[in-house]
Amino acid sequence: MKITIIGTGYVGLVTGACLSEFGHEVTCMDKDQAKIDKLLNGSIPIYEPGLDVLVKKNASEQHLHFTTDLQNAVQQSTAVFLAVGTPSHRRGNGYADLTYVYEAARDLAPHLRNYTVVIDKSTVPVGTAQQVKRTIYTENPEADFDVVSNPEFLREGAALSDFMRPDRVVIGSESPRATAVLKEIYNPLYLRDTPFVITSPETAELIKYASNAFLATKISFINEMSTICDAVGADVAALSKAMGLDGRIGSKFLHPGPGYGGSCFPKDTLALLRIAQEHGAASRLVEATVEVNSAQKARMVKKIRDAIGGSEAGKTIGVLGLTFKPETDDLRDSPALSILPPLAEKGARIQAHDPAGMEEAKTIMPDIHYMESPYEACRDADAIVLLTEWNQYRALDLLKLKSMMKSPVFIDLRNVYDPDRMKELGFQYYSIGRPLRHS
Ligand code: UDX
Repeated sequence: MKITIIGTGYVGLVTGACLSEFGHEVTCMDKDQAKIDKLLNGSIPIYEPGLDVLVKKNASEQHLHFTTDLQNAVQQSTAVFLAVGTPSHRRGNGYADLTYVYEAARDLAPHLRNYTVVIDKSTVPVGTAQQVKRTIYTENPEADFDVVSNPEFLREGAALSDFMRPDRVVIGSESPRATAVLKEIYNPLYLRDTPFVITSPETAELIKYASNAFLATKISFINEMSTICDAVGADVAALSKAMGLDGRIGSKFLHPGPGYGGSCFPKDTLALLRIAQEHGAASRLVEATVEVNSAQKARMVKKIRDAIGGSEAGKTIGVLGLTFKPETDDLRDSPALSILPPLAEKGARIQAHDPAGMEEAKTIMPDIHYMESPYEACRDADAIVLLTEWNQYRALDLLKLKSMMKSPVFIDLRNVYDPDRMKELGFQYYSIGRPLRHS
């Protein structure tokens, strides 16, 4: 099948590469000539493991094309995916900004020739598919088309396997003809017995927000439990393990940390709150999830301050990890952006290391010192803060690290290390919700 993907950002590029791997003939279209030129030259603008190989392979086999020519791509396609950005609105009130979605709908409308399915892949508020349909119809009343919602559930760092082996495919469609096209697009997954949920466009749109809000709620729940564990001397690791063994709860997303970040959870929980409020159906649970996440980040600042004697002025803090999670260079809404500036403002010298996020971080947090290695970040430090659980921070030479520090204070905000082992090594060790057994 001939498919056009509009938007060559994270979602568009992953979708295009994977659908071409399924055997479809895919054209990725973007208005940004510089981006398309780079892709034509084999350079991938984002960091996602395996994506470069997949793009190169399918491009060289002529299954995957890149262009700025919308007309030619759309005219030849049976399916057109909208994968443009939906950032939080500049008004700052949580609404998703749909400017690019409607612009793409208006731009593609005059070029529809034969029956075409327009597919919303971007995360969009409930009702957007209907609005896209109206937009296209207004521009081109003669067009033979349907609009379908087909949300993505891709995790950064694992996007290819999430696309190729998803837990489910959600198709929000009111038209059996359009549903048949989507089934053909995802035929390799259908053959592999992947569950398909076929529902209305509104339900599909809400499924995406509800799934992300539920995962965010699980994280806020365990973060709140970790605060209670700290208060009563209980162990959150045993707690989440025991909870997770209950099949009704499940073990995933019960790992405490400095608060969730990234391009999806913070944005989507706020957008869901706005959708709910607008329709007079406020979600108090999701409100609490968002509040607990802000409180968790503030609590981490206090934890660090308390660990270094109550004041950060004149102290050197070594930081390991800046991105919102490992295996990505993405700093969007990373807890580091909320935790480090308040410490720096109160006079701490921050020495940070991150395997992939430092270039971007330099532009957002210019007052921080960026170091070549995790060991350099810890040189002469009064404390180390482990913020992102990159694999390379799981296997540090801890004695070497300790010998380079001014005082051996280790604040582990991802619970990577064993509290008793760290005590044996001579560290004053702090983690989240885990007591020292022999203190
Ligand atoms: C998420 C969803 O998983 C994905 O389905 C959706 O389409 C996009 O949003 P992503 O943002 O890539 O994916 O990251 P994810 O791995 O879900 O982690 C999000 C944040 O939660 C990270 O900051 C991570 O550190 C944090 N997290 C995750 C925890 O603090 N504890 C956990 O147990 C799991």
